[in-house]
Amino acid sequence: MKHPAGLTFSDFPDAAEPFGPFEAWMAEAKTSEPRDPDAIALATVDADGMPNVRMVLLKGWGPEGFIFYTNRESAKGRELEGQGKAALVIYWKSLSRQVRVRGPVSPVTSAQSDAYFGSRARGAQVGAWASQQSRPLKNREELQVAVTRVEAQYEGKEVPRPPHWIGYRIAPLYVEFWQEQPFRLHDRVVFSRAALDRSWTRSRLYP
Ligand SMILES: Cc1cc2nc3c(=O)[nH]c(=O)nc-3n(C[C@H](O)[C@H](O)[C@H](O)COP(=O)(O)O)c2cc1C
Repeated sequence: MKHPAGLTFSDFPDAAEPFGPFEAWMAEAKTSEPRDPDAIALATVDADGMPNVRMVLLKGWGPEGFIFYTNRESAKGRELEGQGKAALVIYWKSLSRQVRVRGPVSPVTSAQSDAYFGSRARGAQVGAWASQQSRPLKNREELQVAVTRVEAQYEGKEVPRPPHWIGYRIAPLYVEFWQEQPFRLHDRVVFSRAALDRSWTRSRLYP
């Protein structure tokens, strides 16, 4: 197994915040991961305090937060709206690297959701109307009927963004960079802040 060089703050020379390092790691992952370098596991908690987790695609990252798109009426949508907090983890096998993020969640602007929805393939736009994400589905045929109905409804027209299909942003309070090292003596570098308007503190954790 490949063990990239040890991770130290000198890997992030100018980083007083985690966004530059994340961008650098994502850029490397895009060249080395065979598929979906932007796939994240998104963790939420339901109204009973039961954790839940699933993959989604990370569509934006930077000082404004970590952004993904989904159906706000889905299980995750209800959990995000109910708790207002989430965590994500991303693992790049090809680089033996992990990044963990935690923080409050809020919807992105309607204009941002519109822009991203508009960039999607028409089939995916139709699917966003046809799928009542996370609700019971009798069989595949029921879904196909819904797809056909939506296709007919918007034939020859642009498919508008469903109001329930939106982006969310995790505004990070905690971002941890993890780099595998031999004998499980991994490197962990953490950027954390007490509140979104406070400055970042950097620290290291035992593996
Ligand atoms: C690689 C991958 C990427 C995915 N991307 C998304 C996504 O961006 N948005 C989304 O709503 N679901 C995405 N899904 C499906 C979710 O994992 C999940 O099945 C769905 O959102 C319903 O989750 P929920 O019932 O917890 O709300 C993706 C699944 C995989 C495996």
